[in-house]
Amino acid sequence: MRIFATLQMNQNEKIIDESMQGQAFTLESEKPGSKKLFLESYGCQMNFSDSEIVASILSDNGFTTTENFLEADVIFLNTCAIRENAELRVRNRLNDFKRVKKKNPKALVGVLGCMAERLKSQLMEEERLVDLVVGPDAYRDLPNLIEEAEDGHKAINVILSKEETYADVTPVRLGSNGVNGYISIMRGCDNMCSFCVVPFTRGRERSRDPKSIVAEAKDLFEKGYREVTLLGQNVDSYLWSGGGLKKENLTTEQIAASTSFSQLLELVALVNPLLRVRFSTSHPKDMTDDVLEMVAKHPNICNYIHLPVQSGSSRILEMMNRGYTREWYLDRMAAINRIIPNCGISTDLITGFCSETDEDHEETVSLMKTIQFDYAYMFSYSERPKTLAERKFEDDVPEAVKSKRLAQIVELQRINSGIKTALGVGKIHEVLIEGFSKKSEEMLMGRNPQNTVVVFPKEQYKKGDYVNVMVDRCTTSTLIGKVVK
Ligand code: SAH
Ligand code: SF4
Ligand code: F3S
Repeated sequence: MRIFATLQMNQNEKIIDESMQGQAFTLESEKPGSKKLFLESYGCQMNFSDSEIVASILSDNGFTTTENFLEADVIFLNTCAIRENAELRVRNRLNDFKRVKKKNPKALVGVLGCMAERLKSQLMEEERLVDLVVGPDAYRDLPNLIEEAEDGHKAINVILSKEETYADVTPVRLGSNGVNGYISIMRGCDNMCSFCVVPFTRGRERSRDPKSIVAEAKDLFEKGYREVTLLGQNVDSYLWSGGGLKKENLTTEQIAASTSFSQLLELVALVNPLLRVRFSTSHPKDMTDDVLEMVAKHPNICNYIHLPVQSGSSRILEMMNRGYTREWYLDRMAAINRIIPNCGISTDLITGFCSETDEDHEETVSLMKTIQFDYAYMFSYSERPKTLAERKFEDDVPEAVKSKRLAQIVELQRINSGIKTALGVGKIHEVLIEGFSKKSEEMLMGRNPQNTVVVFPKEQYKKGDYVNVMVDRCTTSTLIGKVVK
């Protein structure tokens, strides 16, 4: 089987590495005569992880993949709906496929993922060339839907499930470096942050059986992987009770007998001390000290937390329905610093949310100055249809003001990142090697536990090795040094 896929992978619809766009990946040798799939992913790591489920289901059904959409029988875009521009990118991309249909009228074009779920059949009406629309909980139905589309019918399945976790589907690792693997531990989201479309596109929150998570981590380790990232929209609310029941429907005894997120972290950490464990995303309202204590307890759980704050103003946080205040967030930061000394921290921020004043914005600026995040993903507010904010509030901050505020915090973060990175100079860092550096095959790159990229001369070292690097200089976001024995 041959698996190619192109990626536009990023943490949350933001590009981590521009060079990954449009890249193709081969896994095994090609099976002659099979149908060819072209699969391109947009959005967050969870969506990327879903593409690995899609590839697995379709390879079991005789598909091979291609990096050239012009020769594909089936073209799938796994889409994101988080901001308007995420959807615009997909619409533009669809135009490219008109050429395929001209060349091969039998070729099928499918839209999967969050944009499919949000727009449903409307997408087919607006984009005539789309033959399939498939939501994130309907991927097991893909082989049937493809057959239906091959028979000339428009095929759609956007049913959201309360149980589906694809626990038994072994993902086909797409574009992986063979070192870092991603494991979805839950799906959906039960929070109703007023700006966010995810609860509508991903449905109710459900946790996956810890046994299948641990088995997947073990399998990855045996295949040579040395780091797993556990994925969920709000990992702190992970809870496995056996029957898939939600916390509010469980008795106190049942909750005590369930697997919590911190317990799951320990189970995965115990797979092997040489397997690094990361997780994303933590939610400030739900992140408890027992999770932090578990990170501190196991050296292979990385000292790094992605804790999106969104805004530094308690008034805006309330309107966002985030369930915490500025003070609560600062208290959680204090807990991290107390329990996990030397912990890397990153965040997400939105500028120009409904009614945001200069004073609110200044509170975000002052929070950033106080905390000095190592890294931040920053966005200007994009109103999403059907969300609470769209129904209740006016999107009244002019685009020019949103952009100006965004530019200001991006610049502040650039300075902060520089300061935080420089603190690593003159120190020895434990680095898991991920591959060659971007600039040269004479240099290797990896990350320290705090998630900062470290670059150093290759010597005799290779991908998957752990090395100690003495850092002697840095750029804004990269540490540079040499391996020490
Ligand atoms: N579950 C995660 C975030 C998922 S979405 C959490 O709760 O933090 C990723 C990020 O996209 C969010 O943290 C937010 O900063 C940003 N985002 C979500 N909806 C947005 C919108 N409508 N406009 C701008 N940014 C948005
Ligand atoms: Fe969206 Fe909030 Fe859920 Fe994150 S926690 S996915 S921001 S609703
Ligand atoms: Fe992820 Fe985008 Fe969906 S951020 S959950 S792919 S809306």
